Amino acid sequence: MSTVKMQSVRLPIDQNGNVAQLHGLGVQCFDGIYYAYGENKVNGGLFQGVVCYTSSDLHDWVNHGIVLAPRSTGLLATDTIAERPKVLQCPTTGEYVMFIHAERHDYNYAHVAVAVSDNPLGPFRFLFSMQPFGNISRDIGVFQDSDGTGYLLSEDREHGTHIYRLSEAYHSVVEDVVCLKGANYQYGYESPTMIKCNGFYYWFGSQLTGWDSNDNMFATASTIEGPWSEWKPFAPVGSYTFDSQCDLVLPLPDGQFLYIGDRWNPDDLGNSPTLWLPITLKDREAVLHWHDEWTYEI
Ligand code: DGJ
Repeated sequence: MSTVKMQSVRLPIDQNGNVAQLHGLGVQCFDGIYYAYGENKVNGGLFQGVVCYTSSDLHDWVNHGIVLAPRSTGLLATDTIAERPKVLQCPTTGEYVMFIHAERHDYNYAHVAVAVSDNPLGPFRFLFSMQPFGNISRDIGVFQDSDGTGYLLSEDREHGTHIYRLSEAYHSVVEDVVCLKGANYQYGYESPTMIKCNGFYYWFGSQLTGWDSNDNMFATASTIEGPWSEWKPFAPVGSYTFDSQCDLVLPLPDGQFLYIGDRWNPDDLGNSPTLWLPITLKDREAVLHWHDEWTYEI
């Protein structure tokens, strides 16, 4: 193990000296290496492909280039929007399956696109897009339970945010396991992400404020079906989650948990910093701690 010093507000730089496009990112650990899939926002908000970076310490990232390339026309072309790429490895097939929020020219199409690859470094091949059980699908997240079951988390402006169970091959959804709205709130939460810790599921999400940050929320349950606790903020109220929007909570090998969030700059999305902070998960409570910098062992 080595000690990593992490600055909390970061514009991570890749091996070529460029700002790593780790926006709206998904991270998975495959064979001891962290793979991060991010929105490439160098030239603004339209789709420019999904970039993959790898790291052994979650601090220094190697850019492997575009792993889901824009298509020449239609969905996922360069005149469309595609956000929050998330990848899972399907235990049944071994295949890497990417889910990504796919739009046309505005946010009204509201589909999730599915792309696959035999290699975590791609290239990923677009299969199709869908609206799970006919529901709107905007911000997404993924979760793999300890028994290998895969889940898609998806914000549906009409009904709330869903957790769908994926099929054996992870290509489709087979059950709408739960759908929640927020606390005293007419919508579900977006940028949804989930982690399991000591037998409890922790579900995180943000309110719907566009690129602006807000007090992000979490709820807990002992089964995904619920019952789920009330939603509560996990950072000081009014800090707007230390001015960030949650992407992920990841376990670190030393027992700590890492929170990653976006501090969006809508005028320069590609240079939006990310927040990398320790978060405590204990007894169904989640608390995000501010530090200018902090350390972990990896
Ligand atoms: C909030 C979402 O979480 C982001 O991914 C992005 O879609 C912005 N809205 C756009 O306003």
